[in-house]
Amino acid sequence: MIANWKMHKTVEESRAFARELVRRMSRSAPSTQLIICPTALSLWAVGQELIGSRVMLGGQNLDLGREGAFTGAVSGYLLHEAGAKWVIVGHSERRQYFGESDSLVSQKVAQAWESHLRPIVCVGESLNDYREARTISVITRQIEALFKETSREALRNIIVAYEPIWAIGTGEVPQPSQANDVAALIREILAQKIPDDRDDVPVLYGGSVSSKNIHQFLSQPHIDGALVGGASLHVEEFLKMADIAPYENTNQEQ
Ligand code: 13P
Repeated sequence: MIANWKMHKTVEESRAFARELVRRMSRSAPSTQLIICPTALSLWAVGQELIGSRVMLGGQNLDLGREGAFTGAVSGYLLHEAGAKWVIVGHSERRQYFGESDSLVSQKVAQAWESHLRPIVCVGESLNDYREARTISVITRQIEALFKETSREALRNIIVAYEPIWAIGTGEVPQPSQANDVAALIREILAQKIPDDRDDVPVLYGGSVSSKNIHQFLSQPHIDGALVGGASLHVEEFLKMADIAPYENTNQEQ
């Protein structure tokens, strides 16, 4: 389960969450892999609190390059140095509000891998695309574009998160079986491109996930976990979701 905090929580609030989480975590089932993605500003402080725990740290975005005169930019190298093991790439909010193209997303995936970060690649269709039955073509285009700039080795080490844009922050969710079909499609495309690696790339669902509905998604055979925004901001809710994950997810045991 991955928490994407987006542009929420001060350094102090982030640190307090991490401290509380670690304190209470012995309750939650040990087989769930947990990743927290705070703002870049809070990354290091959260990482300090997570030392010795099984919760990993991720960035929410990276810029290309390593170091240099790029005002405001944060590279994968700097994220890694601050303690991140993972980084979200191609979130729909980056694609929508920051103009990130499929090609830039692919370059960022390559750059993440070069910076010793494992990419969490987000794909998802807009409401219009969904209504006009273009989900399959959009997801296919977004996944296939990854192969333009990124090596197969890097792509063996990604997580893919299917996040329909219309489900993010809206309380609307697809039928779990529809999300499962898209996850199956993602697996199929990856299997064609990386034939020896069919089951190793985890596919997650994201979009209005909460402790109330997470089990519906995790019980789908092609969905390995959840990428959670709003509901991950509350420690209680986060622990509830983490408790559910290993019991509902049958896919990893196959
Ligand atoms: P919400 O869980 O708030 O819908 O956000 C989903 C998301 O965008 C996670 O990356």
